[in-house]
Amino acid sequence: MSSLILQKFESASPEDTESIGAEFAKQLKILDFVSLNGTLGAGKTKFVSGIIRFFCGNEGTPYAASPTYSIMNIYKCGNITVNHFDFYRLKTLQDVENCGFFDSLEGLTNLTVAEWTDAVRINYGRYAAGNYYSVKIKINAKEKRHIEIEKIL
Ligand SMILES: Nc1ncnc2c1ncn2[C@@H]1O[C@H](COP(=O)(O)OP(=O)(O)OP(=O)(O)O)[C@@H](O)[C@H]1O
Ligand SMILES: [Mg+2]
Repeated sequence: MSSLILQKFESASPEDTESIGAEFAKQLKILDFVSLNGTLGAGKTKFVSGIIRFFCGNEGTPYAASPTYSIMNIYKCGNITVNHFDFYRLKTLQDVENCGFFDSLEGLTNLTVAEWTDAVRINYGRYAAGNYYSVKIKINAKEKRHIEIEKIL
């Protein structure tokens, strides 16, 4: 499995991160999978919120809430359903299976997004039916974030 670095961004604010997510979302299609990793509070959910805004428009803000407690949030928007997972509390492949992740990847109207995939070390690329993008966010300073997006081939 090799990866191709697609883009690097420097974000200066939460709004910036959200906009970078919305801009990135333009290339996403049904069956694609996006993983997000980075330390607690790095801005993963903010980035996802930009993706949701791109597909679901401006109604119903805030666009994405952290699914840390619910594990999965579902956004049905037009002909696409964005399933937003958070694996922070998961440990095993069985946990990932039980929360409906693999069903989501196979759903013919779905785009799947998951925070904290590093919590369960499995070969995600094997399961994605469409393109697999990995988003890594690093905290540089108080409001500064480094965002790197890779396409995993
Ligand atoms: N440049 C920035 N980009 C994103 N968030 C920022 C930035 N600067 C400050 N923040 C703040 O950092 C927090 C990021 O929260 P968010 O829930 O998006 O992080 P997260 O990576 O999803 O956290 P978790 O690991 O708990 O899932 C928010 O409170 C946000 O206001
Ligand atoms: Mg989060």
